[in-house]
Amino acid sequence: MDVVRTVEQLRETIREHRPKGGIVGLVPTMGFLHEGHASLIRAAHARCDVVVVSVFVNPTQFNDSADLAAYPRDESHDVAVAAAAGATVVFAPEVTDVYPKGFCTTVHIDGPITDTLEGTSRGPQHFFGVATVVAKLFGMVGPDVAFFGQKDAQQCVVVRRLTRDLDLPVEIVTCPTVREPDGLAMSSRNVRLSADDRRSALALVRGLEAAATCVRRGQRSAATVVAAASQVMADHGVEPEYIAVLDPDTFAALTEVDRRAVVAVAARVGPVRLIDNIVIDPDR
Ligand code: PAF
Repeated sequence: MDVVRTVEQLRETIREHRPKGGIVGLVPTMGFLHEGHASLIRAAHARCDVVVVSVFVNPTQFNDSADLAAYPRDESHDVAVAAAAGATVVFAPEVTDVYPKGFCTTVHIDGPITDTLEGTSRGPQHFFGVATVVAKLFGMVGPDVAFFGQKDAQQCVVVRRLTRDLDLPVEIVTCPTVREPDGLAMSSRNVRLSADDRRSALALVRGLEAAATCVRRGQRSAATVVAAASQVMADHGVEPEYIAVLDPDTFAALTEVDRRAVVAVAARVGPVRLIDNIVIDPDR
């Protein structure tokens, strides 16, 4: 498996490995790869002839320079995980190559997709940074299919909107959240949790499970579902930054869980801000 740093090397590598009419898949990541990323790479490997894994800690999507500085990095581990999961090439560019001197284009996506929930706590700039780097990666790689994790549900909605609005010729595939055996959603940030924090972090998934149980038992009021989840989180000593019931395609808030919905949650546990979500279908 190749590791390349420049767009020229990347395009050359794709040309070498792509059979005529072959499909190119992209798995965009910020590195420190875990089983969640490996599952995306395996999904890409199953579908595509060439699998590009980008490893780039994108500074423009961080609203907090301390968070950016603390973001874990381990490129040799990333290369090993990507190779084992079936990547053809790891693309790990420098910040100055992605944002060279004079760079001044930003993709803005207006409205509730970017200014609520993650967009409120991290600022809409966060999603402008995501949208800009994803649009750039699509331009650099030219993928036919790109794979994203459901764990970042709002990001998935933003990327789908971006792709539709700009007519980008890329199919977006969303893969299920990968969890630890006790249910904690995998995240590169989990390594910063102490043993106590690690236990408290289960508040998020237990809260979401309580929300799902509530709906399964016939509850349709979003406020009641949210209250049930909040109570379970409080029992774990964790206060949510938000818990919301949302339309999975637009991220508009729902007052009734009368159709498929996403319940999304964010909370600070120790030094780390965690997010998680589940999709609930009241008709199933
Ligand atoms: O989900 C991530 O790791 C990042 O937001 C992404 C999509 C790689 C863009 O930097």
